[in-house]
Amino acid sequence: MPQIRFMTLSRFIIEQEKLHPEATGELSKLLHDLSLAAKVISLEVNKAGLADILGFTGDSNVHGEDVRKLDMFAHNMMFNAMDHGGHLCIMASEEEEDIIHIPAKFKVGKYVLLFDPLDGSSNIDANVSIGTIFSIFKRITPDGKPGTLKDCLQKGVRQVAAGYIVYGSSTIMVYSAGHGVHGFTLDPSFGEFLLSNESIRIPQKGKIYSINEGNYLYWHPGLKKYIKWLQEEDNDSERPYTSRYIGSMVADIHRNLLYGGIYMYPADSRNPNGKLRLMYECNPMSFIVEAAGGRASNGKQRILEIKPGTLHQRTPIFIGSEYDVRMVEEFMAKEEKTFSPGKKR
Ligand code: AHG
Ligand code: MN
Ligand code: MN
Repeated sequence: MPQIRFMTLSRFIIEQEKLHPEATGELSKLLHDLSLAAKVISLEVNKAGLADILGFTGDSNVHGEDVRKLDMFAHNMMFNAMDHGGHLCIMASEEEEDIIHIPAKFKVGKYVLLFDPLDGSSNIDANVSIGTIFSIFKRITPDGKPGTLKDCLQKGVRQVAAGYIVYGSSTIMVYSAGHGVHGFTLDPSFGEFLLSNESIRIPQKGKIYSINEGNYLYWHPGLKKYIKWLQEEDNDSERPYTSRYIGSMVADIHRNLLYGGIYMYPADSRNPNGKLRLMYECNPMSFIVEAAGGRASNGKQRILEIKPGTLHQRTPIFIGSEYDVRMVEEFMAKEEKTFSPGKKR
């Protein structure tokens, strides 16, 4: 009989821990709690049409965007799954303006969690893939006390782990704790994440580009030239590329991680800092992509080296295969003097 490798997420995390004798097991428990939240959010996303949970809450969030019921459900689920484990000292979420304290009745731990509870939520009502993104740091303030904003505002390079869950044709959780990037697919029949993608490596060069081309008019001239260059025919560099844009960053980047390619959400003449948020979208996705051998920058600087100033700050992002991200950086560098982001033309 062929051997079946029954590697659950919990077993994998424990086996990884054994390889690192310095580990205390706290991060493993934290990841386990996150996977529990993911299972519940996945269930709710899958029955969204049935559960009368579609549509808006009627409120808007800190970014002035309409909040959907599932955004709030996912936010509350993450908080409720993570507040009592004793691993965290502070949390922050896209859906909450301020940092989120651990309730006084629970123990505080040494880790910091930042998350986007539902990414791509404008796609919910159309059954398109959406996801959850998380970023984990070690606290920098003294142990034993509540965490502070300072613990949250660390450079991405200091993340100890990061990951995401895509609720797509199946639900997959992808994480890295700095030793490779691993994917676990949820078996809905018995509710376990099983190892499906071990040690993911992003191809050095891809054939896919992902960007909202509706914003073309407002782009940096170097970016316009780059996109036109991708569309030209050249056998040696495998052009033209294919365009794929879901509109859920987490799903777009997950696909490009597996197939190779580049995802871009640039600055433009209307939005000088782009759209996506550094702390709970760009940092964790960049940590994963770099750990898989790829590259992530704001066009000039490595995303993980950006020094954060505020919790909800935005950054332009170019992320994916090493070759593809380097190419767009080169195109933009050549045209640098002719672009002033934020200036109407
Ligand atoms: P969120 O749903 O968490 O607010 O994020 C939406 C983001 C991201 O997921 C996606 O890639 C991007 O918005 C799409 O923006 P455009 O509609 O401007 O292309
Ligand atoms: Mn998002
Ligand atoms: Mn969101």
